[in-house]
Amino acid sequence: MAKIIGGVTTSHVPAIGGAIAKGLQQDPYWKPFFDGFIPVRHWLAETKPDTVVVIYNDHGLNFFLDKMPTFAVGAAPEYRNADEGWGIPQLPAFAGNQDLSWHLIESLVADEFDITSCQEMAVDHAFTLPMALLWPDQKWPVKVVPVCINTVQAPLPSALRCWKLGQALGRAVASFPGDERVLVLGTGGLSHQLDGERAGFINKEFDLQFMRSLVEDPTWATRFSTFELVEKTGTQGVELLMWLATRAALGERVKQLHTNYHIPISNTASGLMLLESC
Ligand code: DHB
Ligand code: FE
Repeated sequence: MAKIIGGVTTSHVPAIGGAIAKGLQQDPYWKPFFDGFIPVRHWLAETKPDTVVVIYNDHGLNFFLDKMPTFAVGAAPEYRNADEGWGIPQLPAFAGNQDLSWHLIESLVADEFDITSCQEMAVDHAFTLPMALLWPDQKWPVKVVPVCINTVQAPLPSALRCWKLGQALGRAVASFPGDERVLVLGTGGLSHQLDGERAGFINKEFDLQFMRSLVEDPTWATRFSTFELVEKTGTQGVELLMWLATRAALGERVKQLHTNYHIPISNTASGLMLLESC
């Protein structure tokens, strides 16, 4: 049966794409952020996952406000990036793992999650840039399955619902025939707010407590409503729901192999965790 070997959780910020394009990885502003990924790359080179299930939120590239699924899973043969207006280069296409996609969709629907299945799907910076941080040569050695959670238009799914989705994803992967080695990559957060009166809001104390909780008490954040999460982490900080779903997919116990936290990257408190399933 397929196996989830571990999870990576990371922030996503469009400016990372600009920094990569300009080769600014050693620049003093960017270095503490990019260097965080070095141990993750070593681990990937050792553990060699075959497929990445990417849990992220689309920001208006594939889904817009007129049609906004709460949960969507890609089932396309390949996924392409497109211009989101940030002025960053588009990255090479990603090969889909369609067998795993359909297995996940069938399994999640049987598990009472009403999934939108997408046989065509554009992937935005929240998907592409974390992949480019894990594989900087952009010659993707893995297939992918995108999983989208709506965090851009109310009503958002609750933290508990995202936890349960992650658990269901974990069960679904574990029942996939074959010996696929699966990495779960969750992208978003940590605290940030891009607009409004609190633009620039960052909550380091909450972010660090949340990161610790994923190892020590992983359902801790499910006690908060999405409104409370927005209050504590900013309007876009609620993207941390992707981290919660990722952690839930990894099963009961995890070993933390690496972590990084750096303020700010663009307007965002940037976090990174590498968790191995035990
Ligand atoms: C920024 C952060 C995001 O999560 C995003 O989707 C877009 C921009 C930022 O900090 O600039
Ligand atoms: Fe975002």
